[in-house]
Amino acid sequence: MSIDITKRLSKALAPALGISEEKLYPLIETPPEAGFGDFAVPCFLFAREYKKNPAQIASGFRDLLLKKADNILMIRTAEARGPYLNIFVNKAFIVREVIRDLFPGTKNNLRKTGNGKTVIVDFSSPNIAKPFGIGHLRSTVIGSSLCKIFTFLGYRVIGINHLGDWGTQFGKLITAFKKWGNEQDLKNDPIKYLLGLYVRFHSEAGELPDLESEARNWFYRLENNDDEAYRLWEKFRALSIKEFKKIYTRLGVEFDNYTGESFYSSMLEKTISNLISAGITEESEGALVVKLDEDLPPALLKKSDEATLYMTRDIAAAVYRHEKFDFDLALYVVGSPQTLHFRQLFKVLGKMGLGWSENCYHIPFGHIRFEESAMSTRKGNVVFLEDVLDKATTLALSIINDKNPGLENKEKVAQEVGIGSIIFNDLKNNRIKDITFEWKDALNFNGETGPYLQYTHARINSLLKKYKNTHGPVEFSDDLTFSDEGYQVAVLINSFEDSVLRASSEFEPSIISRYLLELASDFNSYYNTHRVITDDKLLSLSRALLVYGVKSVLKTGLELLGLTAVEKM
Ligand code: ARG
Repeated sequence: MSIDITKRLSKALAPALGISEEKLYPLIETPPEAGFGDFAVPCFLFAREYKKNPAQIASGFRDLLLKKADNILMIRTAEARGPYLNIFVNKAFIVREVIRDLFPGTKNNLRKTGNGKTVIVDFSSPNIAKPFGIGHLRSTVIGSSLCKIFTFLGYRVIGINHLGDWGTQFGKLITAFKKWGNEQDLKNDPIKYLLGLYVRFHSEAGELPDLESEARNWFYRLENNDDEAYRLWEKFRALSIKEFKKIYTRLGVEFDNYTGESFYSSMLEKTISNLISAGITEESEGALVVKLDEDLPPALLKKSDEATLYMTRDIAAAVYRHEKFDFDLALYVVGSPQTLHFRQLFKVLGKMGLGWSENCYHIPFGHIRFEESAMSTRKGNVVFLEDVLDKATTLALSIINDKNPGLENKEKVAQEVGIGSIIFNDLKNNRIKDITFEWKDALNFNGETGPYLQYTHARINSLLKKYKNTHGPVEFSDDLTFSDEGYQVAVLINSFEDSVLRASSEFEPSIISRYLLELASDFNSYYNTHRVITDDKLLSLSRALLVYGVKSVLKTGLELLGLTAVEKM
């Protein structure tokens, strides 16, 4: 659903000016000021060929165009301004073309972009037995949106939850559970209970140095398939995943695989022997490492106590994923504190001679901070995501009760709007920026928020309900039915595909967020100054079609970000 306006313009202008389309197309630019027209052609390039100065050429072009302007539907008039030929387009014509292209329905011309390519998105990846923090929320929301964007573009997308479900901390947990734990408390509130045990382990380990060696021993047993260790670990894992899934369901997030770190434990020996036979490992203070370039510290594969590490598991995971999925692109959506880890990882893969390591990207994001006071419902400095989601829903419900108390399905809408506010807040800015979460900002129905976009969508929906005939034949009133505001909206609708493509190539969902905010705001100025349903049938139809275009783009855009395009609110 997009047309290349510049291309059409060059096609229309080229014969009149006596130059080739190929030459003209790349020259066309947008003038710096509205008074200078909608498009401009700088004439410097023709000076040598025509043996005239650029200003003379611009006037010559203008005369040629004006002579034929009546036959060029796209053009209203032209002016020469210094060395520039300024073009004023026939806006109604362009609006019509844009809208015509939108029909039938919302066809997706971008499906072919992916062309059979495979993208792996490693995202969310919380740690078992620890609360799902708001840092993991960012990864979840950004990663899930990237999955949706690439799927929309026709890629095969594999979303992987690389759970932190292996490592020395499980030795500590098992130790603590065996000493102080009981099954009943564990079942009641598994994650908080396990977190409590973990905290207790650390506070007691100061006085009881044996705890640490016991924990190392338990992890050793776990890595060597000891029955009891494995059983306990498996229980912690299953209970944690069950809790995480509650959150994923609320956020509308899905994964293709829950292959966490433990999944690779059986491959670690082979991974290490491959690294050794590639001749890139060294012993250093009893540990096994890969030395990297001067600016990177060595990658640690195995500690002196023989325990394998996060890095080793990531190496094994990358190799496995490449073998299994033959990916064209692998994205790791992980906060910026792990930048060094991923630089090391990709370097090690490169040193192993794996050329595809060039297609692996770390997609970092900034830190999120919550207003402390608002979240003091539970003690401790961890912000529990569930509390955040509950509070967002409650706030959304109270706003709805205020604005539209008679709304049906209020609870459901409140969920969609509350969750939408949290998701959008996370995707609104460049992902690398740190953000501070403020309730009053996230839920402001008139601010740069998810609820504002959802509300705009719902308003258009009810407007179009009143106007039944949107699916009729695409005919337009011949008068100049579209003002500057209408043109603005149409041009923006037309650039939606471009914003999706840029979001995918920069791995930056915020490009779509910003786009939608601009669209909603341009639509709102249009709507404030134009009545859609008038006495003139054809005029109403034309305007309703433009508005329908806004709605369909808003809906697709919201869904790509992971928000529900609410129909009524
Ligand atoms: N579990 C890790 C953490 O919470 C994130 C894992 C990211 N993915 C990866 N392949 N290393 O810090």
